[in-house]
Amino acid sequence: MLDIKDDFPLLANYNEQGTLIYVDNAATTQKPRCVLDALMEWHTVRNANPHRGSYKLGSLATDLYEHSRESIANHINAKKDEVVFCRNTTEALNLVAASFGPTVLEAGDEIVLPVSEHHSNLVPWMQLAQAKGCRLVYLLTDKLGRISKDELDKKITPRTKIVALAEVSNVLGTRFPVKQIAERAHEAGAYVVADCAQSFLHYGLDVQDLDVDFAAFSAHKAFGPDGIGVLWGREALLEKMPPVLYGGEMVQKVTWGKATFEKPPLRFEAGTQNASDAFAFMAAVGYLEQIGQQAIREHEDALTARLLEGIRDIAPLHVYGNPCMADDRSSIVAFNFEGQDPLLIGRFLDSHGINIRVGTHCAEPLMTYLGTGATCRISLAPYNTLDDIDALIDVLRDAPRMIVRSVLKKRK
Ligand code: ALA
Repeated sequence: MLDIKDDFPLLANYNEQGTLIYVDNAATTQKPRCVLDALMEWHTVRNANPHRGSYKLGSLATDLYEHSRESIANHINAKKDEVVFCRNTTEALNLVAASFGPTVLEAGDEIVLPVSEHHSNLVPWMQLAQAKGCRLVYLLTDKLGRISKDELDKKITPRTKIVALAEVSNVLGTRFPVKQIAERAHEAGAYVVADCAQSFLHYGLDVQDLDVDFAAFSAHKAFGPDGIGVLWGREALLEKMPPVLYGGEMVQKVTWGKATFEKPPLRFEAGTQNASDAFAFMAAVGYLEQIGQQAIREHEDALTARLLEGIRDIAPLHVYGNPCMADDRSSIVAFNFEGQDPLLIGRFLDSHGINIRVGTHCAEPLMTYLGTGATCRISLAPYNTLDDIDALIDVLRDAPRMIVRSVLKKRK
C-alpha cells in the first residue's frame, strides 16, 4: 500500500491539530510539497510573461512554459502542440463545443452522451444543440451504473455526430469503456470527446490508446494547482478549429482591418498564459510518475474494496452505481441513508473530521434519473489510507442513530 500522506502539508498540518480525513477528492485534491515548491520557485526566481519578453528572464519563462507543455504531452502520449492549456476541464470542453462543434454539426444531427454527465460536459452541448437545431440523445445506465451494448447500438447511429462522455462518472464511479465506445462511434462516423477529469489521476491517460478525438482534464484534481487544465485534440482537428478568444499572442498578424491567427495551441491561448500553474502542473505530473500508475491503481482498488465491503451491511445505506468492487468501479462512492437528509450526514461526518461532498454534484439530470434530490459522495485519492477507510466506516455505522438522537434532543 502507498504511504504518501506526509508529502501533503495541508493533511499533515490538520492531523497535528486533530483529525482530517479528506475524501472529497473528486472535487479537488490536496497538493504535495513539490507542487507548492514549484509555485514558490516560479514566483521567486522564474516569473516573466512567456512568449513576449526578449530579455533572458522572459526567454527562460517561454522555455519553461513550453517545457511544461511537453512534459504533460509526454505523460499522456501526445504531441506537444496537441496540448492546449485552458483554465480547467470545463473551459476545455466549452472550447471544443464552441469551436469544433459548429464546424461539424448540421440541423438534425445528434449528440450522444450518458445521462450521468457532469454539467460541464452537458450544458455546452445542450446550448450548441439548441443553436444548431440538433438533438441530445442520452445513454441510460443500468442499476450498476453501466451502459449496455444494446443501449449503445440503439443510440449511436449514422445520425450521431458527436459522442461526449466522462471516462469516470463523478457520481456513479463507473469507469466507462471509452475505447470501445469510441470505436463504435467512429464506425458510425462520429467524433468522440472524453472528459477525463475524474480518471486522469486514478487511471492515467494515453490518448493514442484511448483513441478519442478530444480529451480534457484539470490539474487540481491530480495534485496540481487550480486554474489550469488541458484540452488535448488531434492535430488535424485543432488546425481546422477557429479561435473563440481573441487577443495577445494568438495572432500572426493584425492590420487595420484583418487578423490572422497562430497555429494551435497558441491560437487557443489568448492573453497572458498561466505559466506558473503550468510549471507546477509539470511538478505534479513528475510526482505521479514517481509513484507510478500501477501503484496508484492497486492502492485505490484496495481502499475502495474495503470501503464497499465495510458499508455493505449498514442497512439503510444505499449506494448509487455498483455497490461491489469491479474492474470498472473507480474510487467514487455516492450513497444515501434511507429517510435521512444527505446534508445532515455530511455535517455529522464533518463533526468527526471527515470531509465528503453532499449535493447534486453538478449532475442534475442524473439525480432526476436516480430519483433523488441529492447524494452524499466519498471520493478517494492515493494519499488516503486503510485507517481512513476504517474510521469512515465506523462513523457511517453510527450516523443515522446519532442524527436521529440529535434531532430528537433539539425537539425537546
Ligand atoms: N466536478 C467536481 C465534482 O464533481 C467539482 O465534485
